[in-house]
Amino acid sequence: MSLLKRRKIRAFIALFCAVTFTTFLFSYTLRDPSLYFFKYASRLSDSFFSKGQCGCGRCITEVDDDPWFTERFNLSVYPLMTRRTSLLTDDTYRWWQWLQVERQPANYSEVVEKLFQVIPDSDLYMDAGPERCRSCAVVGNSGNLKGSRYGSQIDSSDVIIRINQAPTSGYEKDVGSRTTHHVMYPESAVDLDNTTSLLLIPFKTLDLQWIISALTTGSIKHTYIPVRSRIKANKDRVLIYSPTFFKYVYDTWLESHGRYPSTGFLSLMFALHICDTVSVYGFGADQYGNWHHYWEVNHLGGAFRHTGVHDGDYEYNVTLLLADKHKIKMFKGR
Ligand code: C5P
Repeated sequence: MSLLKRRKIRAFIALFCAVTFTTFLFSYTLRDPSLYFFKYASRLSDSFFSKGQCGCGRCITEVDDDPWFTERFNLSVYPLMTRRTSLLTDDTYRWWQWLQVERQPANYSEVVEKLFQVIPDSDLYMDAGPERCRSCAVVGNSGNLKGSRYGSQIDSSDVIIRINQAPTSGYEKDVGSRTTHHVMYPESAVDLDNTTSLLLIPFKTLDLQWIISALTTGSIKHTYIPVRSRIKANKDRVLIYSPTFFKYVYDTWLESHGRYPSTGFLSLMFALHICDTVSVYGFGADQYGNWHHYWEVNHLGGAFRHTGVHDGDYEYNVTLLLADKHKIKMFKGR
């Protein structure tokens, strides 16, 4: 046998031993090495052959996803209320009713039926796929936006979500001027233009009655405080946050911290489930630790932090974790 042939055989034997040893090591350390092997192989082939989970460079869901994220993220819970998703389990209905206890709540199913005679009943945004790249900006109301100059970056997103009283006029350089979705509840309502979607977060049956009234007769003027009896908004663009999704956010993402999630956190979760990339602005304190709003002069205002209803620190930590795991991009301002 020639020297070359002998060397080739030795190299083959060495390679064979290395593969056998590695396989043995895996069987020793992992419960089911074959599963591991196939999972790894399928992930490799996925990244080679598929176009990815969405059409962006990086998507919210990835083939090789983080276990903390996959344990929580559930795309089968639809974020919006439709006739179909308005049907609540007893448990969800009880929980939702408990958020802002009503003495004599109206009949929930009758109210929902009236609601969908005023606003459309449609499944939106469920078009996720390798062709779609929907970029979203969630703009919280933190004072850290002041002087941030994020305006044009925010305006370049496909979906721009603003919350409660958030003004843009006079603050365009820092917060932008476009709004595609404005999240509110009766007590925080503002007028919108014809192109913006109003996303109502209902905390009680009366809130559903309020939106019907505010878009039609204007008869409801009071909830637990005086509220706007009418609101300027395009009826065809009114969306309702689903109580089932609301509870899912509270149970799964906040693990029941606080009494219920803040509007900001609910908006972020909405974006996470309908977008392919999420950029978050205006969350958290400013550089001096103040929790005021960006339009407030008084830095000592801390409307959100000190309500006692939300666990602001827990929400902020989950938000930071999502950023750490590259599920969202956080822009911390100044
Ligand atoms: O104060 P408001 O609830 O209207 O603000 C909307 C959202 O913006 C909050 O729910 C919170 O998530 C976020 N926010 C914040 N830090 C602030 C003010 C608001 O994170 N200083």
